[in-house]
Amino acid sequence: MSRQVDHRHQARVRPNAPDASMQESSADATLSVSFTQRVDPFALHLNQEYPVAKSNSKKTPPSPHNAAPSETKAGAEITREQLIDNLNDDLAREYQAIIAYVVYSQAIKGAEYMTIAKELEVHAGEELSHAITIAKQIDYLGGTIGTQPKPVKTSDSAREMLQFDLDNEADTIRNYRQRVRECEALGEYAMSEHIREILKDEQDHLTELASALGIDPPRL
Ligand SMILES: [Fe+2]
Ligand SMILES: [Fe+2]
Repeated sequence: MSRQVDHRHQARVRPNAPDASMQESSADATLSVSFTQRVDPFALHLNQEYPVAKSNSKKTPPSPHNAAPSETKAGAEITREQLIDNLNDDLAREYQAIIAYVVYSQAIKGAEYMTIAKELEVHAGEELSHAITIAKQIDYLGGTIGTQPKPVKTSDSAREMLQFDLDNEADTIRNYRQRVRECEALGEYAMSEHIREILKDEQDHLTELASALGIDPPRL
């Protein structure tokens, strides 16, 4: 009995033209949902055959941009436009890191800090490489590459400078971990690999700064 109803429904909504199902009214979409709930096994087949009718029943409307929202592990939705914005935020942190490491590597004084001062010079070069990688990803996504760094704190104290760096690295690591999840939620697996590579460097920076400060690396 229910299969006869199914065939009628199928005949009515089968899209001969590609966009025919897009014109299905919201009432039809509602019918499709309640029908799905009543006849579960066969309704699964219907849903596979008519993905447009299924998407009409979603609570969240499609993104105004070119990709439908995807979900991260945390459940938050992400679009390609939001990913571009977030990558530009990452880029601003990389610019900040370049400036901070250039300045701090030269401004730090004291015999006990000479080893870490040399390390900071190396960090500066690595942060530049990260900035270029992130800018490439923004360009690949069709975004506009930002030009503004996050603010750089200054201090006369070597210890404070190292602490600023440590705090920034911790913030950067937290953000890149989230970015990996966002890239993967959007199916951008190569991009997530690039960010994982950057993460390795950031983790090393954090460890070296903690070591110079004589503390354990913070648990993030
Ligand atoms: Fe970096
Ligand atoms: Fe770093």
